[in-house]
Amino acid sequence: MSFANLAITDLKALAPEVRAMIDEDWISSLSNVSALLKQNIPDTNWIGFYLFKNDELVLGPFQGLPACTRIKLGKGVCGKAAASRVSLRVRDVHEFVDHIACDSQSRSEFVVPLVKGDRMMGVLDLDAPLVDRFSAGDQIELEKIAEILSAEVPWPDQF
Ligand code: SME
Repeated sequence: MSFANLAITDLKALAPEVRAMIDEDWISSLSNVSALLKQNIPDTNWIGFYLFKNDELVLGPFQGLPACTRIKLGKGVCGKAAASRVSLRVRDVHEFVDHIACDSQSRSEFVVPLVKGDRMMGVLDLDAPLVDRFSAGDQIELEKIAEILSAEVPWPDQF
């Protein structure tokens, strides 16, 4: 497959490409997946991973502006999604009391936890510079991508 200019406009079409990016190295896999998603999901300003380590989320591979390195479980959109192990789709981050602003451009956000068995690996976080960027349909497709990652990335025993 080609690694450049995939120009995928349909989120559904991204799932097999995500699967194809998964390598025997988890860092390489997440790095390429963050690039694949950022290149192919329009109107986004930050896409990447936070990994669950020592009871908090630690910044992993991402595309976008430098972001906060650590997020406590239960804090911000990421920490709340991780603590509840349920996706959070935030229509307007300015209306989300506990939102952590890493990039002032961000206006909406979608966070999906990555859970394998009963172990939480971390979260996939997508930020957009538009209010209400992520639809219910996007949520379904991104949750499928998260399931692929949870099941197929060769996660280390500990980060
Ligand atoms: N906005 C997130 C923090 C991470 S950045 O968006 C990259 C939050 O509230 O958890």
